[in-house]
Amino acid sequence: MNYAEAEKVLRKCGQEHVLAYWKKLGGKEREALLGQIAKIDPKSVRYCQEALAKGAEVPDSSKGRAPKVAVLKGRKLAEAVAVGEKELRAGRVAALLVAGGQGSRLGYDGPKGCYSIGPITGAPLFYFHARKILARTVRYGRTIPFYVMTSEANNEATVRCFEENGYFGLNPDDVFFFTQGMWPGMTKDGKIIMDAPGHVFMSPDGHGGLLAALKRSGALADMKRRGIRSVFFFQVDNPLVEVADPAFIGYHVMEKSEYSLKLCAKREPKEKVGMPMQFGKTFRMVEYTEMTDEQCNRKGRDGRLYFLYGSPAIHVFDRAFLDREASKAMPLHLAFKKIPFVDAKGKVVKPAEPNGYKFEKFIFDVLPNARRAAFLAFDQKDEFSPVKNAEGPDSPATCRADMQAKWRRWLAECGVDCPEGLPLEIDPAYAVDAADIRANGVCLGAE
Ligand code: UTP
Repeated sequence: MNYAEAEKVLRKCGQEHVLAYWKKLGGKEREALLGQIAKIDPKSVRYCQEALAKGAEVPDSSKGRAPKVAVLKGRKLAEAVAVGEKELRAGRVAALLVAGGQGSRLGYDGPKGCYSIGPITGAPLFYFHARKILARTVRYGRTIPFYVMTSEANNEATVRCFEENGYFGLNPDDVFFFTQGMWPGMTKDGKIIMDAPGHVFMSPDGHGGLLAALKRSGALADMKRRGIRSVFFFQVDNPLVEVADPAFIGYHVMEKSEYSLKLCAKREPKEKVGMPMQFGKTFRMVEYTEMTDEQCNRKGRDGRLYFLYGSPAIHVFDRAFLDREASKAMPLHLAFKKIPFVDAKGKVVKPAEPNGYKFEKFIFDVLPNARRAAFLAFDQKDEFSPVKNAEGPDSPATCRADMQAKWRRWLAECGVDCPEGLPLEIDPAYAVDAADIRANGVCLGAE
């Protein structure tokens, strides 16, 4: 792209100010700015402006009902596991990880997936995800291709982490990295914010950017080519997640669902977790900020919270559903943030108060489009302990404690008493459950 072409693109969406400092820029800065402008799609800019004009709409959720949530036990659980295992043995299951976030609350300088979480080895978050995929690949004798969404900011470091660790034992041909999109930040009146004279402020387009990125990168086509039917979706910050869990996949298939969600009981009525609700025949995720006090505290006939189950973002998607949704426009969520900007004199200012908007798409916004959806309950302590904050709740310390408590429960099931203070770590490729530990013979002496 040259200057004249850049000017034309910007004129189409009223953003000519992006070139205001052109004359002051050096050759490399000019090249970089033209590269950024080449990625700006006037249609997307107008889409952001429309979202700004509408403002942050809060949809009415007062008529929402709690969806039916399955709790699988005994024969029903065995049936779901059998169906899920059949899918895995047929090679129809993929794992899809969203790892493009900025991890600002954790304050770690690098991709969150590279954060060291192993209580003894210090292995990174990616290790625990990849080794679970490896374990199930070995157990079921078929590849589970692993699709990892990164952002422009962390893609290189993510790929390096996999390379330096020998892909954690996975075949590199079965690991597919793809990068999510970026949106420019904007002022209230829809002007793109420059955070340096030759640089547009851009931020990742949210985990909902996944759909467009899957299509653009060829990942969806790769899934199709491999005969994938069920896509297990998870987030990078939760090393307790049961990746490609046969029970969940089996339930999803049995229910002929297009979008299935694992849900866990809230720990307290106002827990900050999204809540799927039913409106007529469709479902929608209602964010905790949209729920009234009455809804948060409402009791059901059984005396428990009526809106009991929240979503920790563990999903199974039908691959064809992702394909269908990938070309559709998704709603934009606005976040009012402090964004560095260039003032009239060309100086970079770091504002003390929020001054501009970032735009994000959320993957759960496709839930109302699913022809069939399914909801499955699980026990939070077994599968969800995210690393969000540097300290306090949902931090590395709580996550390591929860990982070790889970492994301790497995060992106890095998008759091995492991005292609480004793550091413990189990390589998922060695065991993804107590049955593996038993099968691998560790507990023979104790049994
Ligand atoms: P969070 O909403 O927790 O955001 O992401 P984050 O960026 O990791 O952390 P904070 O809010 O800046 O502290 C939940 C999941 O969605 C992914 C993250 O990588 C994480 O797995 N995500 C989030 C993306 O892949 N892209 C995004 O643009 C945002």
